[in-house]
Amino acid sequence: MGPRKPALRTPLLLLFLLLFLDTSVWAQDEVLENLSFSCPNATRFKHLRKYVYNYEAESSSGVQGTADSRSATKINCKVELEVPQICGFIMRTNQCTLKEVYGFNPEGKALMKKTKNSEEFAAAMSRYELKLAIPEGKQIVLYPDKDEPKYILNIKRGIISALLVPPETEEDQQELFLDTVYGNCSTQVTVNSRKGTVPTEMSTERNLQQCDGFQPISTSVSPLALIKGLVHPLSTLISSSQTCQYTLDPKRKHVSEAVCDEQHLFLPFSYKNKYGIMTRVTQKLSLEDTPKINSRFFSEGTNRMGLAFESTKSTSSPKQADAVLKTLQ
Ligand SMILES: *[C@@H]1O[C@H](CO)[C@@H](O)[C@H](O)[C@H]1NC(C)=O
Ligand SMILES: *[C@@H]1O[C@H](CO)[C@@H](O)[C@H](O)[C@H]1NC(C)=O
Ligand SMILES: *[C@@H]1O[C@H](CO)[C@@H](O)[C@H](O)[C@H]1NC(C)=O
Repeated sequence: MGPRKPALRTPLLLLFLLLFLDTSVWAQDEVLENLSFSCPNATRFKHLRKYVYNYEAESSSGVQGTADSRSATKINCKVELEVPQICGFIMRTNQCTLKEVYGFNPEGKALMKKTKNSEEFAAAMSRYELKLAIPEGKQIVLYPDKDEPKYILNIKRGIISALLVPPETEEDQQELFLDTVYGNCSTQVTVNSRKGTVPTEMSTERNLQQCDGFQPISTSVSPLALIKGLVHPLSTLISSSQTCQYTLDPKRKHVSEAVCDEQHLFLPFSYKNKYGIMTRVTQKLSLEDTPKINSRFFSEGTNRMGLAFESTKSTSSPKQADAVLKTLQ
């Protein structure tokens, strides 16, 4: 860890001392809200809690309508989102594994095994924590460690994006512009069910080609896809879309489950415009626990970055996950 910046100015410390005398969670919210960032309605996560999720992401690719050329990579991690302050988060990703397809069973189901570099991947994912904030309630600011590799940061960006549920609305259907890994995206937000007036199921839908940070041709559409080496520089992108389903806790409003499904359809020249290649990325987060925490420490750090994916300058198109990880390091 680098030197810690003193995060708290004296008046803040005084307020924190006052907080210790206060047992009402609601009152704490109010006071803390004035301390750091203001982010009205931006977050569903309560401060002084830790949200522990099981994370699963799978990236697969193959020629549409055929089963044989499929390839797939799977990531599993324990994701902890700590909330020391309102709108100030610390994310940790532990116990990760990286698996890939080694064959298919007679029913055509993919058989997966840990890659040779799964341990190395796990170590890279857990080496640095990632701090993030939502200062104005709209755009997400990341404060990564200066030594965090880009491809790891991109994978963490993907995890954060899956956790970001749109703000609560009274409308059952509306279009919002939301910050995502592909930049600012027009998003169709639907409330699918409510308990009383509180949404318990929501879904989002977006055409990724309309996002202002979407760059399909640079290296690859998604870092999760990139892990598998799904790089098609000489191809035409036909469509890219993403849908997410969120299950929300009716009382405390946090995300109990998030499932996002992203599909990119390419038309490589070699297929004579007949068959497209489909790259599919699915992500799933399931809440496991929400323990209380005591730490109120959050320092922004000096390295500020946005949520949008960064290009990782890989020009080759390696076939195996470990080759990709090597290229990107
Ligand atoms: C916090 O801000 C709210 C409105 O933004 C204000 O009403 C309240 O007095 C402030 N509290 C403190 C302790 O400054
Ligand atoms: C926050 O939510 C409340 C009620 O849900 C709404 O009245 C208010 O306008 C929202 N504030 C912002 C900044 O969106
Ligand atoms: C996103 O794009 C819309 C439409 O172009 C714009 O009105 C909005 O201000 C943008 N939001 C951000 C955070 O850049």
